[in-house]
Amino acid sequence: MQTYDKNEKSHIISDFRHHVSTAKADVFEEYGMEFIMGRREGCYIWDIDGKKKLFNCHSNGGVFNLGHRHPEIIKTLLKATESLDIGNHHFISVQRAKLAKKLASMMPGDLNYTVFGVSGGEAIDLALKVAQGHTKRNEVISTIGGYHGHTGLALATGDAQYREPFGLDTSHVKRVQFNEIQAFKDALSPHTAAVIMETVQSTAGIIIPEKTYMQEVRNLCTENRTLLIIDEVQAGLGRTGKNWAFEHFDIIPDMVVLGKGLSGGLYPMSATVIREPFMKIFNENPFIHISTFGGSEIGSEVTLNVLDISSDPNFLNHVNEMAALFSHGFETLQKKHPDLIHSFNQLGLMMGIKFTHNDLGPLFTKAAYESGIWSIYANNDKSICQLMPPLIITKLQVEEVLETMDKAIGKLKYYQVALKAKKAFKSIFS
Ligand SMILES: Cc1ncc(COP(=O)(O)O)c(C=O)c1O
Repeated sequence: MQTYDKNEKSHIISDFRHHVSTAKADVFEEYGMEFIMGRREGCYIWDIDGKKKLFNCHSNGGVFNLGHRHPEIIKTLLKATESLDIGNHHFISVQRAKLAKKLASMMPGDLNYTVFGVSGGEAIDLALKVAQGHTKRNEVISTIGGYHGHTGLALATGDAQYREPFGLDTSHVKRVQFNEIQAFKDALSPHTAAVIMETVQSTAGIIIPEKTYMQEVRNLCTENRTLLIIDEVQAGLGRTGKNWAFEHFDIIPDMVVLGKGLSGGLYPMSATVIREPFMKIFNENPFIHISTFGGSEIGSEVTLNVLDISSDPNFLNHVNEMAALFSHGFETLQKKHPDLIHSFNQLGLMMGIKFTHNDLGPLFTKAAYESGIWSIYANNDKSICQLMPPLIITKLQVEEVLETMDKAIGKLKYYQVALKAKKAFKSIFS
């Protein structure tokens, strides 16, 4: 992989600033984090200068569940290009049929059909469309702090900071506190077409609901003939130690949305898995929903390979073993830094560290970066940093991450003082 010297790097940043996003370039400059991803392999990413190396402890929310450039998936991708391409979304397809059958075999109940897309947001939009079309109702309930993407219908269910700048009409969406059953009951009405929630809220900081809450939501949806859409774009594919996070709660959703990790980090793919009765909406005209690139044939081969790897019981055991090591390490860290660490949220390798102050999430992101870890604070709760390492992480690497976290936490007090004194990241970090 080519490396770039300081001068070349500053030209790239300038091109980005002037032709992609001025504001983004400014933010990274202010944080003193002008990292440009060059070499990437397994759990690690390197700056294009070839020097700065980071452990990817965010995995782009699960895109890199299997690490960067998994050798087996690359082989599958290359082999697929020998005979395939995107395919034609009008035709019946060998690859899409195989992949949808595989997904059905991994899902409980009659979650037997899949509509493929390219992004998580697109797959969420489709789920909401199906619910509104099937029920002939309009209202949607979503949860505060929940995140489902930036496309039209998905965006309407999300946080105000992402939709208000675009003036989107959200009058049909009721947003309720996650994990509070009374708020949910108050919002549910004969007009509710769908309830949409992540099994574990990720952008809100790895918020894990009570099992009884999820089960009551499920039952109330059934009674009200409202469709339950579960977003597993981040929580699915072994991330929590089971194929699907909803399995921890013993519920069967009406639709399950998958994305990110389905791609193997190499070929975009998303999926809306739908219970059999709700596919009737497509009976009269099967062409009322189209995604030209959704379920591309090369991508389907990649995703089949991802599913084979991530659903292997040995792989899931590995995830649970690594999760137990983290859990033990977290106890030690919390004892050592009680004034800084409030708590840890964890389901499998879906983990978050909650600090005692809102400043500390962004400061930890910076301190971790300086120490060699890439971990991002939760955009909907800045006191929390998300920890989502690749699921292929080894025992030695868990130790490495815990040691680096300890070092980074050790820097937080200094950063806090400096931030107060100077009021800007730029002046304290550059
Ligand atoms: C839980 C969840 N759902 C949906 C999405 C949207 O996915 P995409 O960015 O591929 O549209 C995201 C993206 O981060 C997500 O985290």
